Amino acid sequence: MLESLFVVFAYLAGSVSSAIIVCRMMGLPDPREQGSGNPGATNVMRIGGKKAAGITLLGDMLKGLLPVYLAKILGMPVDALALIGLAAFLGHLYPVFFGFKGGKGVATSVGVLLGFSWALGFAVIATWLLIYKISKISSLSALIASSLSSAYAWYIVESPGLVGSCVLMTVLLLWRHKSNIQRLLAGEES
Ligand code: G3P
Repeated sequence: MLESLFVVFAYLAGSVSSAIIVCRMMGLPDPREQGSGNPGATNVMRIGGKKAAGITLLGDMLKGLLPVYLAKILGMPVDALALIGLAAFLGHLYPVFFGFKGGKGVATSVGVLLGFSWALGFAVIATWLLIYKISKISSLSALIASSLSSAYAWYIVESPGLVGSCVLMTVLLLWRHKSNIQRLLAGEES
């Protein structure tokens, strides 16, 4: 029962779009109507700069991290944590508060992985930073870091449930980055 409540709580937390709220509070344009149109930290960076993007990034990570971490502290099994993390991620992609039109899930998925295991989350963050240092392209960094997350999860946490969640999150994240992938292939990604 408590696990089901956490799944619902995680979905609702994931549905809170940090990008849209931060832009409203800081008097910036709606991120869904500017730049790439994505309500995420990268687009908020384009629209409002580092401070707005930093707050957005933190908010999107926390809404993935907190439900999983709280459930972990309460001693819930790993499979329940995997489901709770997936619910937060799906909330970000399909937010009930914003017409089910959300973001691409990069920061929220990292928050979910940090909630599971600091080592797992930091492995994905380190991969993102490394690829970004080389390429200076946010979407490419996210695509590679997310694609490696299942392998990291397998070695670090060794839970089939978590690996399943990672695979699902990666597939959805890749799907959400369709336009970025097309631009990357055409050499036109910013
Ligand atoms: O977090 C999303 C990022 O990978 C790409 O964002 O705005 O360039 O589509 P954007």
